[in-house]
Amino acid sequence: MGEENKTNSLVTGDDSILIQAKNLSHEFDYKLFENINLNLHKKESIAIIGMSGSGKSTLLNILSSLLEPKSGEVVYNDKNIYSIKKKKLLNIRREDFGIIFQAHYLFRGFSANDNLKIATLLSGNSINEELLKKLNIDFVINQGVGELSGGQQQRLSIARVLMKKPKVIFADEPTGNLDKETAITVMQALNEYIKENDAGMILVTHEHDLAQLCDKVYKLENLELVELK
Ligand SMILES: Nc1ncnc2c1ncn2[C@@H]1O[C@H](COP(=O)(O)OP(=O)(O)O)[C@@H](O)[C@H]1O
Ligand SMILES: [Mg+2]
Repeated sequence: MGEENKTNSLVTGDDSILIQAKNLSHEFDYKLFENINLNLHKKESIAIIGMSGSGKSTLLNILSSLLEPKSGEVVYNDKNIYSIKKKKLLNIRREDFGIIFQAHYLFRGFSANDNLKIATLLSGNSINEELLKKLNIDFVINQGVGELSGGQQQRLSIARVLMKKPKVIFADEPTGNLDKETAITVMQALNEYIKENDAGMILVTHEHDLAQLCDKVYKLENLELVELK
């Protein structure tokens, strides 16, 4: 019932909400979660933790427009993203959502700089040198993607997503390949981005101390999303 009221806040025009998940349920071979509700506000970062196999990646895929849930809605701009036209959804995914996966889809055989140029050309933005410095990859920008370390590639793919200026970032274990110090730097860069751009972020991680760097922390457990922080 409490969640019903939150739902109504959208109707009455709470424009601080970016993404609203309503009663999400999903299953594959076994039930993963049931009736999950979640609000992401502007300037807010949310971490989702939980055991391997608990359904974190599945939930993130659903929230980020990549997987239709068995039941429930994901509301963005006052509409359930799974009820709008495919083409419109594609545009939202391309222009408004920044999706960061563990397996980064960089164009191999191109330089790091070319990868950024392609992304910025497509979105009409320019390469942000300051961000490259922050992520400590400014000095490898002319190297081929294949010559970069796993951690450098990961930061390059994060830089590429941020240069698109997304309104919502979805990240699945974005710091998975990184040592602790670099992981913290990346978390800081992501958090700074969302605060400066009125954006929001939902990230999945199994590292509890990195999750603590987010404004809110939820745990996916026993089919539910429990707020820890
Ligand atoms: N596309 C799929 N088809 C069938 N089963 C899947 C699919 N994706 C995930 N699963 C299963 O759902 C469960 C949860 O997976 P996942 O969401 O990746 O968990 P987590 O990210 O928390 O480790 C796992 O048992 C996994 O095998
Ligand atoms: Mg996962």
